[in-house]
Amino acid sequence: MQKKMFGFGAAIAAAVTICFWAGSATADTSLTAPKDELVIKGKKPARFPHKNHLDMGLKCGVCHHDAEHKPLTAEGIGSLEDPVKLSCVSCHNSDFANVKLQKAKDVFHTRCKDCHKAGYEGKKGPAKCSDCHLKKKKAVEGC
Ligand code: HEC
Ligand code: HEC
Ligand code: HEC
Ligand code: HEC
Repeated sequence: MQKKMFGFGAAIAAAVTICFWAGSATADTSLTAPKDELVIKGKKPARFPHKNHLDMGLKCGVCHHDAEHKPLTAEGIGSLEDPVKLSCVSCHNSDFANVKLQKAKDVFHTRCKDCHKAGYEGKKGPAKCSDCHLKKKKAVEGC
């Protein structure tokens, strides 16, 4: 019995250690572009296959910029400590100086829909609401 108890305790200790390692490994790694499809959260969540867009040859700065609106490079993004700094609504919210760029709808539709309509290197993107917006409450939880 005692041996069994010890085994159990050791297993927990090992699990805790692994989690701790995994946690510190994430903290040390610089930020790289996500490979999985993102769901941009909000009142009308939308899917965004991040990798597909990079495969087209788009530079990071087409979408990501800093507080002075200067385009961010992959290196610049890599040196950010916190991915929250890339969150569009962390800046574009009701406190944003330019009132025309406070609403998620305006900011994302300008960036996403406008390019889909105009096209990139002759290729248009999907323009129907349901091409981007998730139907009903098909919530996808991030890990
Ligand atoms: C190219 C992709 C894309 C297309 C097409 C698109 N949207 Fe969006 N839309 C987004 C993204 C991304 C957001 C930001 C997510 C959010 O705020 O919930 C957004 C946000 C919104 C919001 C704001 C939600 C809020 O905060 O109040 C509304 C409303 C909306 N879209 C309606 C529509 C409608 C209606 C259509 C079709 C006519 C449409 N969208 C087409 C990408 C798209
Ligand atoms: C076509 C637009 C677009 C391009 C190009 C782009 N991104 Fe993104 N990226 C986004 C959007 C939109 C988000 C989600 C932001 C949000 O949730 O507000 C995002 C999120 C991210 C995140 C955070 C992921 C997370 O899970 O929090 C990282 C890291 C990132 N991008 C890195 C990059 C890098 C590096 C490049 C260039 C190699 C790049 N992106 C190019 C649009 C783009
Ligand atoms: C660190 C703060 C910050 C973050 C994060 C941020 N923006 Fe911006 N954004 C700005 C500033 C500053 C401007 C310029 C405002 C002006 O011209 O009045 C701007 C302008 C814009 C504009 C209008 C000009 C243009 O480039 O077409 C759009 C659209 C936009 N941002 C979309 C986004 C999207 C999409 C994201 C996320 C991928 C994002 N922003 C993340 C600060 C930010
Ligand atoms: C610079 C141009 C550009 C920008 C910016 C852009 N897209 Fe796209 N997107 C495209 C093109 C072109 C395609 C079609 C690619 C293809 O058919 O191979 C596409 C495809 C898509 C698809 C369909 C992918 C699939 O295979 O189902 C979704 C969803 C999408 N984009 C969402 C978004 C959202 C959300 C944003 C803003 C955060 C965005 N896009 C920003 C050009 C762009």
